Amino acid sequence: MLTRENWGSKIGFILAATGSAVGLGNLWKFPYITWHNNGGAFVLIYLVSVVIIGWPIMMAEILLGRHTSESPVPAFEKAGGKGWSIVGWLGVFTGFVILGYYSVIAGWTITSFISCAKWSFSGYVAPASGAFGDFMADGSLQIFLSFLFIAATAIIIWRGIKEGIEKVTKILMPILFVILVYLVMMVLFLPGRNAAFAFLFSPNFGELPWEGVLEAVGHAFFTLSLGMGVMITYGSYMRKEESIAGNAALVVFLDTFVAICACIIMYTIIFTAPGVKESVSGSTVGMLFITLPNLLYTEVPFGTIIAPIFYILVAFAALSSTISLLEVIVSLFIDKLGMTRHAATFIGAAASFIVAIFSALSLGALSFLSNFSFFGKGKEGVLSTLDHLAANWLLPVGGLFITLFVGWRFDKKICENEIALFGPDGNTTLTYKLFRFFLKFTAPIAILAVILAVIIMGKDFS
Ligand code: TRP
Repeated sequence: MLTRENWGSKIGFILAATGSAVGLGNLWKFPYITWHNNGGAFVLIYLVSVVIIGWPIMMAEILLGRHTSESPVPAFEKAGGKGWSIVGWLGVFTGFVILGYYSVIAGWTITSFISCAKWSFSGYVAPASGAFGDFMADGSLQIFLSFLFIAATAIIIWRGIKEGIEKVTKILMPILFVILVYLVMMVLFLPGRNAAFAFLFSPNFGELPWEGVLEAVGHAFFTLSLGMGVMITYGSYMRKEESIAGNAALVVFLDTFVAICACIIMYTIIFTAPGVKESVSGSTVGMLFITLPNLLYTEVPFGTIIAPIFYILVAFAALSSTISLLEVIVSLFIDKLGMTRHAATFIGAAASFIVAIFSALSLGALSFLSNFSFFGKGKEGVLSTLDHLAANWLLPVGGLFITLFVGWRFDKKICENEIALFGPDGNTTLTYKLFRFFLKFTAPIAILAVILAVIIMGKDFS
């Protein structure tokens, strides 16, 4: 049997895991939900959730993957028996669901980039008000764009862990951080800066809709790529001598940093442009794909330079996330069905593309795909249904089982040894005890609250 591939360097895991975490969730979803939950207090609750729920679950996933050196299904099988492996299968299913709509939205970054590049060279022409709707309703274009994205993802996965994922994220992630910091520095010169900081960082709990608390928890899963086994898979390629707690903490920190930077960039621009605050497009796609390009060209000094760069950033961030989604699927096909990496990549990508076709056609191209309501809340269509399904159900349920398994069922000694937070006296340190407490109690209770809120009140956290 071949020995399992490992990350080629210490930073391999961090870059790939950060690449998975940082994505449309940070640049598209977070600024949008923070805006609708009125800023400050929501941000604070989100930060707390990320520390007391996100960090321990990320550690739990990594340790399960590293201990078993397996992808989610065989990892659960090895560690907990056949019954638990259902959690692994659920994760793979979730991978198809997320990839099947994420790749469509990711495709929009390509057209946004092209439009911006055109505007930067030959002058900005404001698009007609229904232009984005027409674009979404163009079925063949939507299919083509998602195909491009899935194909790019597959090419990288095809090449394997060291040669594919690690090499690409090693290039993409530093570029992404440089562009991001550059953009933050640029907007700091704009007058809207103070209002943006006040909005983000002065909590006023009276303004936080109480469901916002639960929304923050749900988003923590999505943005950190937790609940479907990405971190189990990436952890399975991690060397024994690396610190799980430290790596997980760094990934959580970097992901949060990007999300906050994205808010600073967008809100500063929004608060700088007169009148825009009131008219920020209400739709989920609005802020990133409709409002922002317009503002960049009309309100921001050097906007012509910033705009195309910004959409490259978003595209890169999305790509390093789709890589992780496909890798979960591919590693299962390899480990469980004995396929070669190439066959697994081809089949996994083709199957995801089929799901993506349905999402792509549900944005206006085929009315029967856009006019049905699965969750009983008006018209939704395939794309939003998949998003709801993943964010409201699959990720929290997957995450709950992962926490319960590692916290309550898995061998405590193995946990201790994997995490290896021992003090000089040989006893586990406070950090380990905190991790244990969050994992056993705080995280499952918070997730249960989210699931119950979804069931009882029909709340929508996507
Ligand atoms: N975390 C990514 C984002 O914020 C999306 C993502 C990638 C994801 N892999 C995942 C979400 C696995 C949930 C589970 O855009």
